[in-house]
Amino acid sequence: MIQTFLENISIKDIIDIFIVAFLLYLIFLGFKKTKSIFVLAGIIITGSLYLVANILGLRLLFVNPGMAQMLGYQPEEMIGKPLFDFMEEEEANTALEHMNKRRRGITEQHEFTLKKNNGEPIYVLVNTSPQYNKEGICIGSLAGISDITQRKHDEIKLNRAMDATIRTISKMIDARDSYTSGHQGRVTRLALCIAQGLGLSKDQTSAIRIAALIHDIGKISIPSEILAKPSALSDIEYALIKGHPQIGFDILKDIDFPYPIADIILQHHERINGSGYPNGLKNKEILLEAKVISVADVVEAMSSHRPYRAALGIDAALEEIGKNRGILYDPEVVDVCLKLFQEKGFEFNPAGTPRL
Ligand SMILES: [Fe+2]
Repeated sequence: MIQTFLENISIKDIIDIFIVAFLLYLIFLGFKKTKSIFVLAGIIITGSLYLVANILGLRLLFVNPGMAQMLGYQPEEMIGKPLFDFMEEEEANTALEHMNKRRRGITEQHEFTLKKNNGEPIYVLVNTSPQYNKEGICIGSLAGISDITQRKHDEIKLNRAMDATIRTISKMIDARDSYTSGHQGRVTRLALCIAQGLGLSKDQTSAIRIAALIHDIGKISIPSEILAKPSALSDIEYALIKGHPQIGFDILKDIDFPYPIADIILQHHERINGSGYPNGLKNKEILLEAKVISVADVVEAMSSHRPYRAALGIDAALEEIGKNRGILYDPEVVDVCLKLFQEKGFEFNPAGTPRL
């Protein structure tokens, strides 16, 4: 039997045996301090895709055939190479952040973009955990990787559909009130620049983009004669106008956005000293996204024409936010906004709505 086995075994089989032996060696030496050994054994048996990266040199210590095939390589073309050779350039910093987490002993799941042999990006879901030597020092990271490119493309399509829907709603709101047409688009553009200046996260920026584009949605309940009234408003009319953040909230509250859009819209007329409406919230009770939109809203509204007054101009608008910095408006948001106009040459784009 041994003779038959030896006659039929190929070089590839021998390499495979060595690979499995090497893995078992790694499991025995490096992984015995982790609780992931059974998971790892499961990965090997079921043939899922994985790699081990040397945490110091960020080089691949082992790549299984499935992983290599997913990227269009042979395992030997990947083993020993820097991890960065197989990812998009802009992902390098993210990869380093994840590696630092491994060094701190953190196990996690995250999405990532790798690069195929032909340069095409491939979206992957990474389940990764730190691996230790027998002295308990982290020597690498083990990652189980699944191709989620199809799911990602579906997500992108879905997001595009949501963005297009938001833009359409924004246009519908603008269409009701020709005097403020383009207002929400211009507020969005300024609010996004403020968000960038504040260094807000991708999620916060996305929330600001969506909320700003439809922040006046509650005005659809206000008769257009009041919105377009060329003279001063009566108390009742003003009270109706002041109800629009609450109505906007009621319209949107049941939509399961990935961000707190309804709350941001509810709060876009709140002021940090509690003098705003509808709930008189104070500084820390107001979402930062709402604070950003409120400053952008005031600056845009003051610098544009209204049915009951001519445009007050951008200088008056900037004076208003500067004068009330830290009183009505968040000081940091005001500083970034002033800098945009005074140092960075920001101008409202009359063309209006930016891309989402
Ligand atoms: Fe408003």
